[in-house]
Amino acid sequence: MHSQIVGRHAESKKLQSNILQISQEAKAMKAKYDDVIDATVGMLHHEEGNVFKYQVVENLLHHLSDAEIYHYAPVRGTKAYSEGTFDWVFGKHSELIKKHFHYSVIPTTGGSGAISNTFYNFNDSGQKVLLPNHYWTPYENFAFEAGIKLETFLMYDDDNNFNVADFRDKAVRLANEQKRLCVLLNDPCNNPTGLCMTNEDWREVVGILNQIAKTEVPVILIQDIAYIDYQEKEADVSRDAFLAYLDLDPAILAVVIFSGSKTFSLYGFRIGAQIGLSKTKEIVDHFIRVGDYSVRGRFSSVSQPGMSIIGKIFSDKNYMAQFQGELVEARQILKDRGGLFVAEAKKQGLAILPYLGGFFISIETQNKNIFQDLVNEHVFVIPMEGLIRIAVSSLNRKDIPRLVTILKKHI
Ligand SMILES: Cc1ncc(COP(=O)(O)O)c(C=O)c1O
Repeated sequence: MHSQIVGRHAESKKLQSNILQISQEAKAMKAKYDDVIDATVGMLHHEEGNVFKYQVVENLLHHLSDAEIYHYAPVRGTKAYSEGTFDWVFGKHSELIKKHFHYSVIPTTGGSGAISNTFYNFNDSGQKVLLPNHYWTPYENFAFEAGIKLETFLMYDDDNNFNVADFRDKAVRLANEQKRLCVLLNDPCNNPTGLCMTNEDWREVVGILNQIAKTEVPVILIQDIAYIDYQEKEADVSRDAFLAYLDLDPAILAVVIFSGSKTFSLYGFRIGAQIGLSKTKEIVDHFIRVGDYSVRGRFSSVSQPGMSIIGKIFSDKNYMAQFQGELVEARQILKDRGGLFVAEAKKQGLAILPYLGGFFISIETQNKNIFQDLVNEHVFVIPMEGLIRIAVSSLNRKDIPRLVTILKKHI
């Protein structure tokens, strides 16, 4: 009876965020025992267990003026933030992308706000968004809030490469059924698997979307690049996959999701952006119209301190140089940990999904009781459909050999 207090559409809502809950359990056990391994947290940590803070961010944070902290942030963002974000995301290809596309940057409450807004505005009610079968589970929450559903294709082929064939089949089928197609790819450094699609994969994806767009079906490509700055590749080549965008059909809208949480370790500030791109001006005008409205209608505006700090880094050569230097250090931490995990897994004969960078490594498993088996050994990971996710971002190198031994025992 009392459940009628909520609107009908909200009756079945129940947050089952196993990620946050498991992290809490891990923390509680850590307070009691000192052999606990917590591989749940998707925030970059130092070996000593403290969060990786960028010193340039830290210094700016403590020297912001009142206006840079307390005032409302502009809905469309400051020029330093919005233009800076665009240039950062597309890097050395930024001018080329500007030459070929109309675009707009809409600041959002983290990458989460950007995905949520995009799901909401670019799908019809009940429509399905296509994404790989391994995905960051909050996408389900964003979808439910938007009144839409998710449909998956197989992420991997038999050789553990990106499964272009299954992507093609499912995309074509969904486009035929719905007469609309919205695709979400979290790349590079996929959460949870660590997959990085190749430039050729991207060319294939764009080719398939172009064919669909030619049939007068509206096509929206969402690329969630939350972990783009943590690839194993050099920063300079990490943006080359965007060159595939140059071939996008003019009828397609691409929405790139930027996360200030990951790039700047500003997890608590809730800052990110939706970058809309199309070769057709009218499409970008629609992106701006609905995007601006939803920012105001859903969260009003974003974190002013977050925008101030990022805007300053993007518009000052010295801050930028310092940030880029620190980012090399952050990437090295992940590279060392990821490399050690991969080597140790090989040594101990533990099969893992190919790790190509980012915060996570995944291992396929048939063990339905894997989570509890590992907790009994004081190990916390995130269990997902058919696999477990290990956050190398928060591991400690000295724990890795023992972790691999325990995983091997129960997988
Ligand atoms: C794949 C992926 N996309 C987007 C986000 C969004 O993060 P935020 O909202 O903190 O920017 C996350 C955060 O964990 C993520 O893992």
